[in-house]
Amino acid sequence: MMSSNYDNNGQYSRHSILRYEKIFGDGFVSSGGLGLTKSFFERLDLPQGAKVLDIGSGLGGAAFYLADKVGATVVGVDLSSVMVEIASERTKLNGYNSVSFKLADVRDMEWPENHFDLIWSRDTLLHVPNKDELFVQLQRWLKPGGHIMISDYAKGVGEGSEGFQTYVRNSGYHLLDVESYGDLLRDAGFVDVVSDNWSTQFVEILRAEQGMLQSNRSEFLKDFSEEDLQYLHERWERKVQYCLEGDMQAGLWYGTKA
Ligand SMILES: C[S@@+](CC[C@H](N)C(=O)[O-])C[C@H]1O[C@@H](n2cnc3c(N)ncnc32)[C@H](O)[C@@H]1O
Repeated sequence: MMSSNYDNNGQYSRHSILRYEKIFGDGFVSSGGLGLTKSFFERLDLPQGAKVLDIGSGLGGAAFYLADKVGATVVGVDLSSVMVEIASERTKLNGYNSVSFKLADVRDMEWPENHFDLIWSRDTLLHVPNKDELFVQLQRWLKPGGHIMISDYAKGVGEGSEGFQTYVRNSGYHLLDVESYGDLLRDAGFVDVVSDNWSTQFVEILRAEQGMLQSNRSEFLKDFSEEDLQYLHERWERKVQYCLEGDMQAGLWYGTKA
């Protein structure tokens, strides 16, 4: 098993994290940032004071949102020390007493059975192989009636183009198609599993983020280089193309512990 400070192929240095935040919005390292967090949250029926585990909590945007919305006690887990450092600094700065962040690989964690009301994870599990084993573990940690919400990158059915396969391999991603992902949740014991392919909306969001980056170009270049700008532009363009060609998909899953 990888060490807890494994850095996802170097994707999450302090520089690259803050560069990503410029495009995703404050507190987020995932497309759609706060807007999507709100719409994913609205589909949940979360009790006041809910106990939440946020897997791959990044800069903490979702954890802070859930604490604000329902007074949730949120534990964020992330295996990037820089993410945990920045999120913890912001927790202190903004006086969030019910939010904490732990440096760990979620697969190495131990929690009591029937502990959480919600397990939330955005754009993180693409880094995790053997999701079936993890889902069994997560099911155990949830209270009966508790929910899981996952948004993640997925792939179309089949292998996809050679270019896409190389991109996935070089990025160290482990992608499933949307339905197979949902099936793994069912196999782990979750009920009422809903699997959504929201790629059309995802492409619109990627386009909007690209546009926003272009219009804030001079602001961005105060802190980052032309090279950084070009890197983000190319990476976004590539994601749009892979989605339009059906190689990449944006997936969203909900499930409940019976
Ligand atoms: C794309 S970022 C998303 C961050 C956050 N969920 C958001 O929406 O802004 C993915 C995060 O998952 C973390 N991560 C990847 N694999 C993990 C694992 N096995 N356990 C805990 N965190 C993990 C990475 O370090 C990174 O911070």
